[in-house]
Amino acid sequence: MYRIFSIDIPPKEDDIANYRSIRLKSLKTNPEAYGSTYEREIAFTTDQWRSRLDAHDRKTFIAAQTTGSTSITETGSIRGEEPREGIWVATASVITPEMLRKAEIELPASVDETKTAVYALVGMWVDPNHRRKGLGRKLIEALVTAVRETKEDGVRSKLILLEVHDENEGARSLYKSLGFTECPGNTEPGQSWMTLFV
Ligand SMILES: CC(C)(COP(=O)(O)OP(=O)(O)OC[C@H]1O[C@@H](n2cnc3c(N)ncnc32)[C@H](O)[C@@H]1OP(=O)(O)O)[C@@H](O)C(=O)NCCC(=O)NCCS
Repeated sequence: MYRIFSIDIPPKEDDIANYRSIRLKSLKTNPEAYGSTYEREIAFTTDQWRSRLDAHDRKTFIAAQTTGSTSITETGSIRGEEPREGIWVATASVITPEMLRKAEIELPASVDETKTAVYALVGMWVDPNHRRKGLGRKLIEALVTAVRETKEDGVRSKLILLEVHDENEGARSLYKSLGFTECPGNTEPGQSWMTLFV
């Protein structure tokens, strides 16, 4: 069985160690999928890992394998009520509009930040041994629900933005199946923006 939950803020010591481990594994296994590198992040101190998780401008979702069954549950754990037992096998994070602004990322021209609260989906990864079991989909659904439930001032709509390599057919299919659509605009060569209004 798999359980989906978000990491508490502040994170527990075990959460920091587990997150470091899954993030480094993702960078090593699929270096082509990310803007950062294994070599850069292996040098992070525990405090750097802690500060990535101990911040309200980012929420990180995890799928942990608890038993051999392939069912996926979100009950309890997503609300921070359950212990985090199990092996962490998949992750995805969402970044708030405030953090995106601080990072000074150039957004697609068609996205109007004065009308839309822009969140970003980053760090999506599923362990190769656990792919095509619906974990990627469930993580994004949990993340979309969290964004929907975030209070924003009434006039603005909410959008989730992500960047994906044009050759990453698996990820593109996953995002499309969840309603993300291509969004024209400047990004790195060979990559595209995709967006979902929530
Ligand atoms: C892309 C990735 C996150 C998908 O995770 P996953 O848990 O295997 O995806 P799911 O099982 O939830 O797939 C849901 C749907 O997405 C589509 N999909 C997922 N992987 C696919 C693939 N390799 N090829 C084609 N379609 C795929 C399918 O429509 C699938 O539904 P189906 O299995 O019923 O056909 C995973 O392959 C991965 O971690 N890849 C390496 C890292 C990466 O590319 N991250 C994204 C960076 S933008």
